[in-house]
Amino acid sequence: MATEETTSNAQHTETSSSGEESISSVLSEKRKFPPSAEFSNNAHISSMEEYEKLYAAAEADPDAYWGGIAEQFHWFKKWDSVLEWNTPYAKWFNGGKTNICYNALDVHVNSWRKNKAAIIWEGEEGNQRVLTYGELHRQVSKFANVLKIAGIKPGDRVAIYMGMVPELVIAVLACARVGAVHNVIFAGFSAHAITERVNDSRAKMVICADGTRRRGGSINLKNIVDEAIVNTPSIRSVIVLKVTDEEIHMHNGMDHWWHDLMGLAADESEPAELDAEHPLFVLYTSGSTGKPKGILHTTAGYMVHAASSFKYVFDIKDEDIYFCTADVGWITGHTYMIYGPMLNGATILMYEGAPNYPQWDRFWDIINRHKVTIFYTAPTAIRAFIRAGNEWVTKHNLSSLRLLGTVGEPINPEAWMWYQKVVGQEKCPIVDTWWQTETGGIMVSPLPGATPTKPGTATRPLPGIMVDVVRKDGTPCEANEGGYLVIKKPWPSMLRTIYGDNERYEKTYWSEFHDMYFTGDGARKDEDGYIWIMGRVDDVVNVSGHRLGTSEVESALVSHEAVAEAAVVSRPDELKGNALVAFVTLKDEYVGDMTLREALRNHVAKEIGPIAKPDEIRWAKGLPKTRSGKIMRRLLRELATSNEIKGDVTTLEDFGVLENLRDQEND
Ligand code: PRX
Repeated sequence: MATEETTSNAQHTETSSSGEESISSVLSEKRKFPPSAEFSNNAHISSMEEYEKLYAAAEADPDAYWGGIAEQFHWFKKWDSVLEWNTPYAKWFNGGKTNICYNALDVHVNSWRKNKAAIIWEGEEGNQRVLTYGELHRQVSKFANVLKIAGIKPGDRVAIYMGMVPELVIAVLACARVGAVHNVIFAGFSAHAITERVNDSRAKMVICADGTRRRGGSINLKNIVDEAIVNTPSIRSVIVLKVTDEEIHMHNGMDHWWHDLMGLAADESEPAELDAEHPLFVLYTSGSTGKPKGILHTTAGYMVHAASSFKYVFDIKDEDIYFCTADVGWITGHTYMIYGPMLNGATILMYEGAPNYPQWDRFWDIINRHKVTIFYTAPTAIRAFIRAGNEWVTKHNLSSLRLLGTVGEPINPEAWMWYQKVVGQEKCPIVDTWWQTETGGIMVSPLPGATPTKPGTATRPLPGIMVDVVRKDGTPCEANEGGYLVIKKPWPSMLRTIYGDNERYEKTYWSEFHDMYFTGDGARKDEDGYIWIMGRVDDVVNVSGHRLGTSEVESALVSHEAVAEAAVVSRPDELKGNALVAFVTLKDEYVGDMTLREALRNHVAKEIGPIAKPDEIRWAKGLPKTRSGKIMRRLLRELATSNEIKGDVTTLEDFGVLENLRDQEND
């Protein structure tokens, strides 16, 4: 499907004569797709002129722009100031009091939307549930009462560990209603990962399910929680939702059934009147050191950007049925499955299970049966669908679709074209949305009724969002010059800090470029001002759209008794975007043990979760290091990718190490 105009989206890190790493890009993609007149005519923002006008106005007076959006919500008390900025700490809408759950539910229940579907849920086995805004409001209010009775107070942290069932949304919104800080932990994470996250956030409670259904079977989640909370002194109680028939142990005094508590709870609950900057949630994400970062988001600013970005990027209308395939365990699930849609009174389609269960057409079957109009997924899923074959898609009637979206990693132009032709039948605009856990909401994306798209770029920043691509010294790059993606001005849904670690917050995001937020991504801006993301420039890797810190995987590997040292790097992978390659030095007594490769992969799965399993483990007698002892990951990346090293090796301490690594490639 590629044309001669397209070369692969690749990022090269080169060492310049000054010894500094610079980034160069080799992508040249010339195709351009303007939205159809029909789409534009009905869109919230219907032309580039309108976008440019809005962008310029927001840039000239950000307070007026964001304040204007904030006016659309319910406030118990209006704010005193739109933004107080004390680099790098922001207070948005300070002095105001609101409640995001009230804005996501009560305002709709008090309108004609009371009986509109909020969630159309489909279980893996094909069972279905529909929760109207009225019913969701009732359930959330009841569960808010459960939390209050259990002693949860505003500001308390609550960990949530469950699969994709409506009760996950109910638990999240109930936390927001009472002012508890939710900390959702992806149900694929291990006991060790839960312990780490619960302890770091000092959570008081875990809400979990007995199990979660997966590919016709089920996974016992409660046993994993039991194992995790042996080492979490802050946990006072566990609420367990019954989803599967997993055999579990309920511990007296500690564990309570969801249905028992809900049976006793009243179904009305006053929402807490919370400060605009009241913490809303902590979500852990990988950074470039071994310890995951608790990204802290607060109430009002997050609400304002989640709602408005959802409205404009997905051009949401009341008739739409919106299907986001992300898990609530990731930021996309938080912002664009729960808060963004519900703040807009939208109908979401929530699917419990695997995309290829029972067959590769599950998503297309869902779209056809439920007449989904907007579909949002990850490039890694798109590539898997391409591999599975077009017939799985084309046998379904997808004519209800009007808009497609992608998120999580750069989409290669070939996958973009396939998505546009085979799924979108050349009539749906594609919004390639760039953002991060830290940004809380979409930063760079086409506006579907306005922006001409080009395969592979997230295009232009949203109004109110000031991004740029800069050199190492902070000066702006020329058009098409590779550099570092930064955000120049605070935005409402920005992270406020790393939970309990202001120093790490300042160092990670604000030390590289003075007064500008550093995203960790390399990018270039083309002659139209479109942003082309070239991938991470730190030790964070996107594997199948999930973000992993290579150092986390390294720490997991070295925690195994057989491992002396490990370095983990990525290499490009056709399906997953990136694959993890681990170079492992074994302790002498373990060298030659043939069972270790699999044992180490399983060990990583146990320490972090199956998503972090290295794709390849290579034995290394030693690792290439600089004289000061720093592992030269750049060389390992080259080896992992092409099996040869062309880059500069002058700082290498011991050349024999490289020879050994080359020799051992296939043993
Ligand atoms: O490298 C960028 C990539 O995903 C990173 C953020 O990962 P995470 O916090 O897990 O959030 C993912 C969902 C928002 C970014 O630093 N990324 C995300 N979206 C895109 C992307 N890379 C290219 N294009 C995108 N649309």
